Amino acid sequence: MIIPFKYGKVIDPVFFVNREKEILFLQRNFKSKINTTLISPRRWGKSSLVKKAADELAAANKKIVPVYVDLFNVREEKEFYEMLSSAILKATYTKLEERIKVIKTLFKLITPKITVGIDQHNEFQLGFDIHDLKKNPDEILNLSEKICKLKNVELLICIDEFQNIAHFENPLAFQKKLRAQWQHHNLTCYCLYGSKRNMLSELFEHKSMPFYKFGDLFFLSKIDKIHWIKYIQRQFKKTRKEADSASAGLIADLMENHPYFVQQLAAISWENTTKTCTEKTVLKSLEELLVMNDLLFQKEIDLLSNKQINFLKAMVDEVKQFSTAPVIQKYNLGSSANVVRVRKALVDKEVIDIYGTTMEFIDPLFKQWMKRVYMN
Ligand SMILES: Nc1ncnc2c1ncn2[C@@H]1O[C@H](COP(=O)(O)OP(=O)(O)OP(=O)(O)O)[C@@H](O)[C@H]1O
Ligand SMILES: [Mg+2]
Repeated sequence: MIIPFKYGKVIDPVFFVNREKEILFLQRNFKSKINTTLISPRRWGKSSLVKKAADELAAANKKIVPVYVDLFNVREEKEFYEMLSSAILKATYTKLEERIKVIKTLFKLITPKITVGIDQHNEFQLGFDIHDLKKNPDEILNLSEKICKLKNVELLICIDEFQNIAHFENPLAFQKKLRAQWQHHNLTCYCLYGSKRNMLSELFEHKSMPFYKFGDLFFLSKIDKIHWIKYIQRQFKKTRKEADSASAGLIADLMENHPYFVQQLAAISWENTTKTCTEKTVLKSLEELLVMNDLLFQKEIDLLSNKQINFLKAMVDEVKQFSTAPVIQKYNLGSSANVVRVRKALVDKEVIDIYGTTMEFIDPLFKQWMKRVYMN
């Protein structure tokens, strides 16, 4: 039988849980062409959410064409332009001849090199000369508007892993170029998303940055426990197994509603279930998951100082006030100034994250490992 849970990359609608409000919000923005930036920690579901919202909207409104650009392996500005223009052409012209014809009419200052694979639709890539690009990036940045007019469509350009622009040679100048052109676009809407929260919010929130007030800035949250319980029980039922609500709730609680890890623990619990999943099954499955990750977490611990480990131990014990004398003493944290330093180091090392007044482990499984293996 095929496991009825999915974890990894972008998920199909069958595995998709809730996010109704977020989908409505995004679709409303996309329809009104309000540029939107979406930020969350890794694997909270940005890519899946944008894909679902954009695909559904496009299915209902044929005039809207989504264009997906994933910058996950992009390190240079040149690659960005190549990827963007190739994706736009692939999304708007299905036939190779049409694409070549439109390239001839639209590219006046830049001469692209076209690479086509056996699969003409998917393996289609434009290449540009770096000197051409330096002189005339606008020709590419405005390509979408020109095609929208030609084809009487509206493009929704979704750029994933946008934080990677930080690797470009001059990220600030690059952003200025983008902003200068994109702000005049009336037929294209941009959705930019990624996971380096601090870096991305700096790009979009600081007055001195080119993308300041480029559109709406939206921080994605996790998915509530109630939705997880319904989903887990539904998926078990589909495969003629059962999960009582206590066990489904325990899966969500242990993984702190983190989308990726809830799906993973649910998958293992499902495999360990013959007929009915109970809390015992879930705890056994968690044990297995911890064993699988043991080496990885050992390495992670090796990269931390003693004080940083002590701080995490206090977090595992659900300590909320770190700067009080008894806590500093109990966990040997040095001084309150040191507490601040340790916390910052853990944020920089991407072990913990702070949202408003809450602080949590980025990886809920690592927290469980500290609690059940390391501190036990
Ligand atoms: N709405 C959802 N319903 C159920 N599971 C989800 C949902 N969103 C995300 N997930 C789970 O989280 C995993 C990661 O999702 P996705 O790749 O969309 O996240 P992401 O934020 O784009 O991650 P990354 O930061 O790595 O790019 C999915 O494979 C799935 O297991
Ligand atoms: Mg993603």
